[in-house]
Amino acid sequence: MEKGLSHVQFRCGFGKGVLSEISEQMTPLEKADSNYDVNPLYQQGLSALHEYQRRHTELNYDLTQVEATFPDHVWRSTQRMTEDNETAGFFVMDSSRKRRNLFVDFVQLAQNRYSVREYASKPVSQDLLDKVYEVSMKTPSVCNRQATRVYQITDPEKIATALKIQDGFNGYGMPPVLLLITSDIRAFMNNNERNEPFVDGGLFSMSLLYALEAYGLATCPLNAMFSLSSDRKTRALLNIPDYELPVMYIAVGNFPESVPVCRSTRRDPKTIVKKI
Ligand SMILES: Cc1cc2nc3c(=O)[nH]c(=O)nc-3n(C[C@H](O)[C@H](O)[C@H](O)COP(=O)(O)O)c2cc1C
Repeated sequence: MEKGLSHVQFRCGFGKGVLSEISEQMTPLEKADSNYDVNPLYQQGLSALHEYQRRHTELNYDLTQVEATFPDHVWRSTQRMTEDNETAGFFVMDSSRKRRNLFVDFVQLAQNRYSVREYASKPVSQDLLDKVYEVSMKTPSVCNRQATRVYQITDPEKIATALKIQDGFNGYGMPPVLLLITSDIRAFMNNNERNEPFVDGGLFSMSLLYALEAYGLATCPLNAMFSLSSDRKTRALLNIPDYELPVMYIAVGNFPESVPVCRSTRRDPKTIVKKI
């Protein structure tokens, strides 16, 4: 829903499937939680719906059909939300401050990283990418085995084909650079280590994301959750040997002057930390 709201080329009436899921989930949530009106998930649902209504009303788009799929009180309860509500939806990020990213502290860097799905037309400097790889090599790996591999794809046709197979970046222009992170499983010994390719590859990918952000580049992590057929097609396209496992993609580009990004609200850490 937030992705749809943050598109530069806004498509009126998008997201019917997701809207009907939100509608279906609100009533069970009301029943399951007596304090549902302050439940963060409930609030996020309402907030996304509020933003959806606001954007379509602005554009005079008739939402009668969508409204009919919602319980009346849910559809109307968004009216209690104020314009400055920041629970869900999107905001337009001013990218000019990203130029100073090498000089901001880690907390600020991490708090201000957002997935960016639309990029400036300016090509990405290879020099910067090489610096990004250099610092990402400091990522720890099991027994320092360094099994992660990176495919840097800049051929526009290959990028378009890879992302068509990937199927999670639809409706956006193509990024100028696409990275595929893989793990060379020959670095692993036995079945106890079966998850390590993804652990090490995941850690390396996060380093890449932060290093790219630090060097002022815009990124979006993209899944490599391939069916067998997508896996085969991707391997053939990028010439990936059998002994490497795809971990994930990262789309990379220069920031446009300003860009809409999804808020993607996080849970309260108290709800995920168990102190033992
Ligand atoms: C492993 C992974 C796979 C992802 N796959 C996709 C994807 O296929 N398409 C997409 O638009 N975003 C994808 N994302 C981006 C997430 O939606 C995004 O990171 C999340 O909503 C949090 O937002 P933020 O990155 O702006 O903090 C992926 C993120 C991760 C970490």
